[in-house]
Amino acid sequence: MSIPRARAVSSALTVVALLAGWAALAQSPGAKTDPAEDPATIASVAATKARAAKADYQRGVWDPTHFKPAIDHAGNEACLVCHSEIVKATPREASPAGVKAGEALAWYQTLETYSGKQESFHWRHLQSSFAKETMNLQCNFCHQGNDPREKSPHVTAVRSDGAPNSSWAGAAPAFTLRKSVNPSETCLRCHGAFPAENMGLGDPWPATREGLETVETPNGCLGCHAEQFRTVRHQTTYLKAANIEKLAKTSSDVCYGCHGGRQWYRASYSYPRHAWPGMADTPDWAKDRPTQSDVRFQLPKK
Ligand code: HEC
Ligand code: HEC
Ligand code: HEC
Ligand code: HEC
Ligand code: HEC
Repeated sequence: MSIPRARAVSSALTVVALLAGWAALAQSPGAKTDPAEDPATIASVAATKARAAKADYQRGVWDPTHFKPAIDHAGNEACLVCHSEIVKATPREASPAGVKAGEALAWYQTLETYSGKQESFHWRHLQSSFAKETMNLQCNFCHQGNDPREKSPHVTAVRSDGAPNSSWAGAAPAFTLRKSVNPSETCLRCHGAFPAENMGLGDPWPATREGLETVETPNGCLGCHAEQFRTVRHQTTYLKAANIEKLAKTSSDVCYGCHGGRQWYRASYSYPRHAWPGMADTPDWAKDRPTQSDVRFQLPKK
């Protein structure tokens, strides 16, 4: 008896599927996964170095640390095994039109905290002395993945349970205009507008500070934020809370820098609103605010 070819292929596939199912069943439910498949192991520096040593360009592009879940476990050191250019790159000495970097001064470089010459975007967030004193940014704080097929930080396919493949607050869509990072959940946190309206302040900060700051009180923000309002802040893995407060004693530019002073957006980030001692009723604008930082950035409970 002869089986039509298509049937033969399909029954061969059934056998393969059955065998695969059998193999999965043979592994008891509680059994440990193969250590080679544990995302933390995949993203470890040792395993990454071993893969990089054998990798060609294609294998590099499709390295598992570019994808979830492994990327969530990758430290900077693991990414830098292949991407050392990120901490070495320098900007051009002069623009193609001939403007020398050393002679140009952008408005965001006029904050008191700015120091040094023009450097790359990555350098300013990872390596500048101000960055190192105030922040602890990891590559995967911004880079949630690099899928060369989707050209998106996350694949657009949904997870097996149907939920979006997102780890942002409220499962917000991860796919933002084909940018390689999600700016609303990264840049906006530190480059939004000064949220004056929520503070009941009318004028722009440069005018407000005039009336508040003296030689003895050089940081006008702290007039309200030292004891009265929102005193529980910055308790996250990617900020150095204690150092920020220490540096802020001498200048409001420390605070303003991340809350309006380097503003790329018209909106302000919807910060969580942590309860603080002496907190009064919640104003209307704050009714929908979370009361805790994003879970992925919370510090381990003491
Ligand atoms: C085994 C080597 C390897 C590792 C480890 C690795 N990458 Fe890559 N990555 C590559 C290669 C190769 C490319 C493609 C570069 C190109 O085409 O210019 C790439 C591309 C990228 C791109 C896109 C670059 C572009 O120009 O579009 C980003 C972003 C990126 N990687 C981030 C990361 C991050 C973050 C990590 C750590 C979680 C990481 N990579 C780990 C090898 C690696
Ligand atoms: C503050 C957010 C942020 C952090 C932290 C960050 N990156 Fe990026 N990275 C970006 C943005 C934004 C781009 C530019 C994307 C674009 O042009 O679309 C970029 C570009 C890249 C590229 C593409 C090549 C290039 O130079 O444009 C690579 C590779 C990369 N990052 C790797 C890394 C690695 C490795 C780390 C950690 C050591 C890191 N990044 C940390 C935001 C970040
Ligand atoms: C956690 C806070 C934080 C986040 C998130 C962040 N930045 Fe920044 N950014 C800073 C600080 C602080 C500086 C100033 C660093 C310094 O003075 O050395 C800065 C400086 C800059 C500069 C000026 C660079 C220069 O050469 O002067 C640019 C441009 C910039 N950020 C863009 C971005 C973009 C785009 C993103 C999102 C991909 C981003 N930032 C995410 C805190 C942040
Ligand atoms: C006159 C008092 C006052 C001054 C000065 C002031 N703030 Fe505020 N700030 C407030 C009040 C009031 C709130 C809202 C408190 C609440 O959540 O009910 C607030 C809220 C904030 C928030 C959270 C906004 C949100 O949408 O959740 C940030 C960030 C902030 N202030 C930063 C600053 C910085 C940075 C400065 C200095 C550059 C500053 N403030 C100066 C009174 C002030
Ligand atoms: C390096 C950037 C950076 C600096 C410097 C900085 N902030 Fe923030 N601030 C942030 C980010 C990011 C958040 C959100 C943290 C989170 O998700 O819990 C935040 C949150 C806040 C909040 C909301 C607090 C809450 O209820 O959770 C207030 C108020 C605030 N900052 C005020 C200040 C003041 C005042 C200073 C100076 C003493 C300051 N910030 C300095 C980046 C910064």
